[in-house]
Amino acid sequence: MSGYTGREKPSGPGVSAAVGIFITFEGCDGAGKTTQAKLLATKIGQTREVLSLYEPGGTSLGELVHSYVRSHGSGEISEATVGQARFDGMKDFDARVDPIAELFLFAASRAQLVSERIRPALEQGNVVICDRFADSTAAYQGYGRELSIEQVDKMNDVATGGLKPDLTILLDILPEDGLARVPEKKDRMEKQAQDFHRRVRDGYLTIAEQDPDRFLTLDATQPAEEVQAQIWSRVEKLLHPEAAQRLL
Ligand code: TMP
Repeated sequence: MSGYTGREKPSGPGVSAAVGIFITFEGCDGAGKTTQAKLLATKIGQTREVLSLYEPGGTSLGELVHSYVRSHGSGEISEATVGQARFDGMKDFDARVDPIAELFLFAASRAQLVSERIRPALEQGNVVICDRFADSTAAYQGYGRELSIEQVDKMNDVATGGLKPDLTILLDILPEDGLARVPEKKDRMEKQAQDFHRRVRDGYLTIAEQDPDRFLTLDATQPAEEVQAQIWSRVEKLLHPEAAQRLL
């Protein structure tokens, strides 16, 4: 199964049927991904084993990267929490972290998550739902930070070993509307300028246009129940392709 990409499912006599389904959620901050990912996991979990993950995180290494994203620039790191000496060394951390170094941090977190949690779950035939995945790096570090898209794609490929989601749900929202929904205490990425978030949103739409079979793009300003119903209608077909085929 090591060559399994998430889309090229093995078939034919003698091939194990234990191949899972990999679903990711993407979108700008405040689009409602976490809420919809949880709702979907609960619904699928009624009939099937589901592993719910988020990025960056889900492994010890991933949580380190998560704390970097959450803390720096948010004011959570203070003299009181880390001590005077460390604080002096860290307070210009934001300015000193090179975009390429940031790209490597997200890639490291993803490589660990894929090998430690995602592949084993898919190999057992489970459904894996991940709140953000490689498209986040393409959108934020590629389009947002304006790194070379080609380099980011290559890095993603190395980190995932070529694993691609079966379905990516893009919850689309204007960055200003999304950011208005997130709590006052913004993290390192949320604190970026409006232009940055516009580029991220446009980047997502471009990525989705380039891979229409994998992406389901939804208007995230609709009521949550409406978004949930649209997601379910697509996921149901993924879970029961034979039934969907019969209806054609
Ligand atoms: P979240 O936990 O609120 O989704 O925050 C994660 C932040 O990290 C979010 O602003 C997007 C950003 N991010 C990247 O810039 N690149 C990545 O590859 C990932 C996974 C997240």
